[in-house]
Amino acid sequence: MIEEYRIFKDESKLSPEYIPKRIPHRENELNKLKSFFRMILKDPKRNSQQVFIVGPVGSGKTLISKKFIQHVESQYILNDVRLKTYYTNCRVNRVFGSILNSILSSIGHSFPNRGFSLDEIVQYFISKLSEEKVHVIVIFDEFDALVSHEGIEPLYVITRIREMVIDRQILSSIIISKSFSYLDKADPSILSSIQKNIIKLESYNESQLKDILYDRVLIAFEDDTVENETLDLISKLASKYGDARYAIELLQLSGRIAEFRGERKVRPEHVREAKLQLPPQIRKEELNYLDEHEKIILLSLAKLLKEQLEDQITLKILEEEYKIMCKKYGKEALKHTQFWLRVKNLAQKEFIDSKVSQVDPRGRTTVISLLNIPAEQLYNEIKERLGYG
Ligand SMILES: Nc1ncnc2c1ncn2[C@@H]1O[C@H](COP(=O)(O)OP(=O)(O)OP(=O)(O)O)[C@@H](O)[C@H]1O
Ligand SMILES: [Mg+2]
Repeated sequence: MIEEYRIFKDESKLSPEYIPKRIPHRENELNKLKSFFRMILKDPKRNSQQVFIVGPVGSGKTLISKKFIQHVESQYILNDVRLKTYYTNCRVNRVFGSILNSILSSIGHSFPNRGFSLDEIVQYFISKLSEEKVHVIVIFDEFDALVSHEGIEPLYVITRIREMVIDRQILSSIIISKSFSYLDKADPSILSSIQKNIIKLESYNESQLKDILYDRVLIAFEDDTVENETLDLISKLASKYGDARYAIELLQLSGRIAEFRGERKVRPEHVREAKLQLPPQIRKEELNYLDEHEKIILLSLAKLLKEQLEDQITLKILEEEYKIMCKKYGKEALKHTQFWLRVKNLAQKEFIDSKVSQVDPRGRTTVISLLNIPAEQLYNEIKERLGYG
């Protein structure tokens, strides 16, 4: 194929693995993270830290943790301290024992995988790290995936390792998740210690997304190939979700479409086309991390929406359908407040949209609709997960 016009200068700058030099609208959060670890970098022997990063999809959680690793590594070389970083994505590795083993491997040790209890593994882990006189900062990305697989125990173990060690500190951690809902299962005592060390990332708004995109255009595209209106449209579309990943994916796909067409510029029309090809789908595995009541609520909503022509359902009707569904699945329905909390949680996780509307002439009513996924598809996905009923 002969390319008439080149659109991309370096498309790899749009890939999820690429770590940009500049991170607009996250400098403060990165600085906060660095300052939480300032004492560790100074004296890793005596200090240890545990920080939590929370924020919705595509809000830059993984990115700031990777930028932080770069920062530590530059310091590491500078000061020659026995300090290491270890990044793990718990969605990929969901077995806590094997995560500990991988950390050990990174410093040249490992335990045979067979027949050890978690306690024994932890003891071995502590003794080897102490022996090597090394302090590891572990980033547990998508930590909720680990909790949904193993429960809250790993969090206790991580906390305990920091407390157990007497003569030198060996472990610090950065724990990343979309929300704190996994802490439902945690002890109140652990909650108070967490509160001090949280970095909360908000969804990006339209102009913030535009700044992020603009930076990428400069490094990934040939000069003057992306129209300003194109960036306006992408930021507007992606601001509905506040998701930088979606914004960058739309930009990349729009560029590919323009290139494929042999056009000189990436125009809004290419974005509209890209949008059709790239619905911001709920990632299917995320459904697995919902509790049973949240699944039943979604199932009820999907059922109502696919049976009705309307695009939204009142909270009251949803609750009635939820109660019927609970009976069907042999579950006791939650009381109203608990039900409402789950609905709010689903909205926060961006499965659904909940807003107050004036449709009811007698007053304000909450109406619920689906955000990212067609009702029929959601219905089938959840039915599959709930199994019987
Ligand atoms: N402030 C920013 N500046 C530049 N790029 C950004 C910024 N925030 C996010 N990105 C980019 O957007 C994409 C998504 O960011 P990231 O992977 O950090 O999201 P996340 O919060 O970890 O999302 P998830 O919860 O889905 O894992 C990445 O390609 C990242 O480089
Ligand atoms: Mg991430």
